[in-house]
Amino acid sequence: MKVGVLTGGGDCPGLNAVIRGVVRKGVQEYAYEFAGLRDGWRGALEDEVVPLGVPEVRGILPRGGTILGSSRTNPLKHDDGPRRVRDTLAAHGISALVVIGGEDTLRVAAELHRQGIRLVGVPKTIDNDVCGTDWTFGFDTAVGIATEAIDRLHTTAESHMRTLVVEVMGRHSGWIALHAGVAGGANVILVPERPFDIDQVCAWVQSRFEIKYAPVVVVAEGAVPMDGQLVVKDRTVDEFGHVRLSGIGEWLAREIARRTGTDARTTVLGHVQRGGTPSAFDRWLATRFGLHAIEAIKDEDFGTMTALHGTRIVRVPLDEATAGTKTVEPSLYDEFSVFFG
Ligand code: F6P
Repeated sequence: MKVGVLTGGGDCPGLNAVIRGVVRKGVQEYAYEFAGLRDGWRGALEDEVVPLGVPEVRGILPRGGTILGSSRTNPLKHDDGPRRVRDTLAAHGISALVVIGGEDTLRVAAELHRQGIRLVGVPKTIDNDVCGTDWTFGFDTAVGIATEAIDRLHTTAESHMRTLVVEVMGRHSGWIALHAGVAGGANVILVPERPFDIDQVCAWVQSRFEIKYAPVVVVAEGAVPMDGQLVVKDRTVDEFGHVRLSGIGEWLAREIARRTGTDARTTVLGHVQRGGTPSAFDRWLATRFGLHAIEAIKDEDFGTMTALHGTRIVRVPLDEATAGTKTVEPSLYDEFSVFFG
């Protein structure tokens, strides 16, 4: 049997570890052949297929990014997309797919599975916002990078007695902001799930200055002020209807400086959070997802996604996993309110 593998959406540390796990187990235990689809669904749509075997996956475990490339191409937005995907698979003798992606890529997978394509999904995203799994790989690495940045920003904030705002990724969910903010001892953490009151943020900033410490404010790019709106980089939308975010950090620093009469600066971590080598935990989780994904292919358990429940890897229906977005529960966020201000 020949199995196709694709990685879609924003890249994420650990993608290569999944590919390696899938290929190594598939070749060694089941004598499967593999093919890589270039740049996510784009390769499936445009018939760009590359060889994928044990030699191609050698040495890739610690490498960031994805050897297969990625894109935000949505075949459902292209004329005859599903038929073109099916034609590519047929032309290369690919009878099943491993689809590694976040909520958008997996939603397409769920639809194509409904239309008869045999596939299994693997959840990836630094945002940790895929439903049905406790954790996605990439998240741990991103939190580590953001935490280190916050630690560094504390010392420069203290030296200048100014506010430092750190903008982290997180379009719909504040998992990175919350975890890195708590780990880094931030004084204010703002997440998309909880519209914030700028007066309250300024009060927290001021109370921090009063006890002679400089405030560090961590904000997810998707956080919104009450009565305000999402700050976007520009209005262009991708094929999944997403605008490019970023700008809330700048806005906050400006408002804090204007309202409190103190100095405030912003650091936007951006793609630094997604790049580079995965943490040990992400390599471990991604490897396990890869091994279990090929097992699901062997069992012909199509339309499922590998997921982490506690310490166990299980399979959940793709339909269930893509029905919504996993957000930060209010009670979890409130646990840390003691540290604000
Ligand atoms: O992968 C999800 C994500 O990290 C979001 O948090 C962010 O909005 C988006 O990717 C940005 O991706 P890009 O700039 O690569 O399109």
